[in-house]
Amino acid sequence: MAATEVERVVEISNNMRNLTLSGHVGFDSLPDQLVNKSVSQGFCFNILCVGETGIGKSTMMDTLFNTNFDSTPSSHDLPGVKLKAHTYELREKNVLLKLTVVDSVGFGDQINKEDSWKPIVDYIDAQFDAFLQEELKIKRMLHSYHDSRVHTCLYFIAPTGHSLKALDLVTMKKLDSKVNIIPVIAKADTITKSELNKFKAKIMSELMANGVQIYHFPVDDETVADTNNSMNTHLPFAVVGSNDEVKIGNKMVKARQYPWGTVQVENENHCDFVKLREMLIRTNMEDLRETTHFRHYELYRRHKLEEMGFSDSDTRSLSETYEQKRQEHITNLQKKEDEMRQTFVIRVKEKEGELKDAEKELHARFDQLKKQHADEKKKIEDSRKRLEDEINLFNQRKAATEAQHSTMGKKKK
Ligand code: GTP
Ligand code: MG
Repeated sequence: MAATEVERVVEISNNMRNLTLSGHVGFDSLPDQLVNKSVSQGFCFNILCVGETGIGKSTMMDTLFNTNFDSTPSSHDLPGVKLKAHTYELREKNVLLKLTVVDSVGFGDQINKEDSWKPIVDYIDAQFDAFLQEELKIKRMLHSYHDSRVHTCLYFIAPTGHSLKALDLVTMKKLDSKVNIIPVIAKADTITKSELNKFKAKIMSELMANGVQIYHFPVDDETVADTNNSMNTHLPFAVVGSNDEVKIGNKMVKARQYPWGTVQVENENHCDFVKLREMLIRTNMEDLRETTHFRHYELYRRHKLEEMGFSDSDTRSLSETYEQKRQEHITNLQKKEDEMRQTFVIRVKEKEGELKDAEKELHARFDQLKKQHADEKKKIEDSRKRLEDEINLFNQRKAATEAQHSTMGKKKK
């Protein structure tokens, strides 16, 4: 048999046979097909920037993507934290990137910062939920779905040189199971080199002490393992952002100019900006996307489905689970309806009692008024009688006087 001549059969542990091809078949183009398909669809990447108002978030985004996103500064007197997302299409060579930048507007500005993390967590969950809804649809459109799940959170730490604020720790703790956190020390040009090293060590020890999981660059792919390994030791990156360009030698470079000198954004002796860009965009963007899908979204999905009554250990079919949930829902509704009915009956009885009391009061008042009226009527009747008696008496006296006068007149005549 011709085929057996070319097939060198090797039995491997799971009974799969390893065959040798006698000529070119063409499926070695699969990786290229994959690349072409991905390139034609474009890529989504979503960054969430969390940090105090004015800490340099927008400048950093502009500097990272070498563009101007036209962001407007926020005011410091917002009553709460709001999340604002803007999506941009960026093209580099033939690669299209649909980039969404989400800003935590008003973060850290309120006197009571207790719930500052909540709108951020809600936003991240809402994006997971939207994706889950799409996945659960009968007619799924995942290939054309605009994925808004947050792939990374750049957490901007104020360059105090001391330690993390309680707000930073609480927020990062709330976010760490939902998003890949990359902490950065903002405006690193305002802190000295020795202070910076101590500050970095302090931040890392505080994060560890509080059990905050930040994103570590992956070391399982050997092509990037060394770089990622060494970059992990530089976390958190101390970054400087700028929209201004300065001529250094014969090159225009992004920099911040001070009376005493110039801080070059892309100079690795001045700050870690290049490290951040390298790690975030050039080396680990795909890993950030994958970690979001396979770890953070997976966790969200699991909890959500369990909440909905699904379980892997459950032997029931989907329709049985649905029917059970439906029954539970109906029972709950029935219970609520009964409770509402009972409350309604109690309220009606209360109202009835109140009305009866009011009616009694009205009757009493009516009786009282009736009695008062009768008394007054009697009084008037008595006075009228008295007056009539007086009139009668008067008339009698008048008649007697007139009779007397006429007798006297007759006598005179
Ligand atoms: P809001 O969006 O209003 O919360 O502010 P933001 O966090 O986006 O800050 P933005 O980028 O608007 O920067 C605020 C100010 O800080 C501007 O005057 C920037 O020039 C300045 N700034 C930004 N990055 C740096 C930096 O790395 N170092 C220093 N020293 N200043 C910076
Ligand atoms: Mg801004």
